[in-house]
Amino acid sequence: MEPTDLQRLRKWFDDYARTFFTGNDRADGPIRLKYDHTLRVCDNARMLGASVSLSDSEVLLVETAALFHDVGRFRQYRDWGTFVDRLSVNHARLGLQVLGRHRVLDLLAVEERRIVAGAVCWHNALSVPSRVGGRRRRIALLLRDADKLDIWKVVTDYYRRRMQGQERDSAVELSLPDGDVCSTGALSSLAEGRMVRLPDVRTLNDFKLLQIGWVYDLNFPAAFRLLDQYGFLSSIAETLPKTDNVQQAVGRAMVYLKHRAAE
Ligand SMILES: [Fe+2]
Repeated sequence: MEPTDLQRLRKWFDDYARTFFTGNDRADGPIRLKYDHTLRVCDNARMLGASVSLSDSEVLLVETAALFHDVGRFRQYRDWGTFVDRLSVNHARLGLQVLGRHRVLDLLAVEERRIVAGAVCWHNALSVPSRVGGRRRRIALLLRDADKLDIWKVVTDYYRRRMQGQERDSAVELSLPDGDVCSTGALSSLAEGRMVRLPDVRTLNDFKLLQIGWVYDLNFPAAFRLLDQYGFLSSIAETLPKTDNVQQAVGRAMVYLKHRAAE
């Protein structure tokens, strides 16, 4: 893969995304959110790629995977009006269908196509299947870290604006009920140093605990350092109730982060 290939793919992505914008700022908000997110995940992917000294062509591959990881989001929102996969469709699979239908990856070599498609497919899975190894695994894991770093940015920006009185946005909050409650399941997973399971997410607070627990799913030292540097976990924690249970669960995640960031 050559840098000019990536330029052509970027052009395709821009043209494709543009067909979903209506010109009405309010209606376009969720589309804009995913478009901007994609470009920042590309930046993160490039940064993380450089930190693990990938070859030039591998950096292009991880950037390509970043460019297309959420390409399914546009149709998902247009056709189902939600970003909740459970209520609509797996947006990673839908993205692969979009890429296939438009023959977007045809300019890549077969092996490169497999790497990009794998990374897109597993970016939102619980984990990358253990049978996947080598470059394919490394690039899929890099994309997952790059994606999480930006989701943390999006949600912390949003929680901050919410505290300043901005109205709720169901595209970010996934329509979960807000209130002082944290579910026991979500709290105990985090307190035991594990990720929060999706079935335990019943309230917006649980969703915030889930986002804090993603620290247990990061892979690359540079990702831990960036997360620590940006302070996303503490920003999320500030918006949670200040109970002992919450502080203990969040405290454990913070200790883990500091430990991994110092490696
Ligand atoms: Fe995604």
